[in-house]
Amino acid sequence: MKKDTLLGHAGRDPSQHSGTINTPVFRASTIVFPDLETYSTRPADDYKTPRYGIHGNPTNWALEEAVAKMEGGYNAVAVCSGLGAIIAALCAFVKAGDHLLIADSAYGPTRNFCNKRLAAFGVEIQYYDPLIGAGIKNLIKSNTKAIFCEAPGSLSFEMQDIPAIAHEAHARNIPVLADTTWGTPYFFKSFDHGVDVSIHAATKYIVGHSDVMMGMIVTNEKYWLPVRRSVADYGYCSSADDCYLALRGFRTIGVRMKQQMANAIKVAQWLESRTEVKRVLFPALESDAGHAIWKRDFEGAASLFSLVLNPVNKKQITAFVNALKLFGIGSSWGGYESLVTAPNISPLRTATKWLDEGPVIRLHIGLEDADDLIADVTQAFAKMTAAA
Ligand SMILES: Cc1ncc(COP(=O)(O)O)c(C=O)c1O
Repeated sequence: MKKDTLLGHAGRDPSQHSGTINTPVFRASTIVFPDLETYSTRPADDYKTPRYGIHGNPTNWALEEAVAKMEGGYNAVAVCSGLGAIIAALCAFVKAGDHLLIADSAYGPTRNFCNKRLAAFGVEIQYYDPLIGAGIKNLIKSNTKAIFCEAPGSLSFEMQDIPAIAHEAHARNIPVLADTTWGTPYFFKSFDHGVDVSIHAATKYIVGHSDVMMGMIVTNEKYWLPVRRSVADYGYCSSADDCYLALRGFRTIGVRMKQQMANAIKVAQWLESRTEVKRVLFPALESDAGHAIWKRDFEGAASLFSLVLNPVNKKQITAFVNALKLFGIGSSWGGYESLVTAPNISPLRTATKWLDEGPVIRLHIGLEDADDLIADVTQAFAKMTAAA
């Protein structure tokens, strides 16, 4: 089955639900059993048959099956948020005395959790240059228990060579975890590129409509039980209502992402021609340092990128962002609508130095007409110049 066909068919069986196309919302905390023997002998590690609300319900399983099949993973679990998914996945692998390698470009709250919580529990956290590739072998120690990637970084957009990292990791039986929110299960087949545990902020493109918080972890067979047990031990779960909405969103991820990618490339290429812009950080552009890896490993690009402005003062940046009419000011992405933020990347770096070439603006390009977005940015640039 081609992936667009799979999107429409995976994770549903109308014959099980009176012919309804979509798996209904199974709101449930308590699950009752027919007799004590069945209740007492329920298998502890079976997370895909009814046990208790926290372990899921048929609506969750429908979503999990559709996402796992699309990405080519063995199994998936939906949890409360993308950050929750990152935490449960990391904690499946590290304990006191272990060493954890994290890409220096990782999402800020991932770093925060590692620095504040894992470090306090005695885990040694080491950040590495996201461009390290096979050089990761020089950082691996006898107590390294996991390598965490994020490709590309969601503010700075360095593309990581995940297959090269995975080659070194797997030679030492170390799992590769990756925040693959940008690639999505539609555009990045994690497991073909050496990822063992793929983590999604499903809040973004999977849900796609800016109305649900959710994380998903997809794993290969080897690491399914450690990850799923970790999710259960933390008590993380996701509601049937949220999973229903997420699967409804996921059914259209193909058309949304293809259109948003086309819009993003149009806006990004136009930005490259503007004198206000020093550089556009977007692996889908030929000018981007990560373009070759992106082309090799990804089947498309998300519509999230950053641009580095030529020097302007703070007042001008504020004037620019405030002047945008079609871009909401907000830190999320992956919905149908355009968004803008002005991130400060330098404080989020420890293993590498962020080359502060100018102010960074991050844009999420939605499903609006790209020409309208370009017109909006044009008038905002004029306000920025006028505020000098
Ligand atoms: C790259 C990345 N990973 C993870 C997350 C966390 O997702 P959530 O907001 O669902 O916790 C985000 C959220 O912005 C993100 O950008």
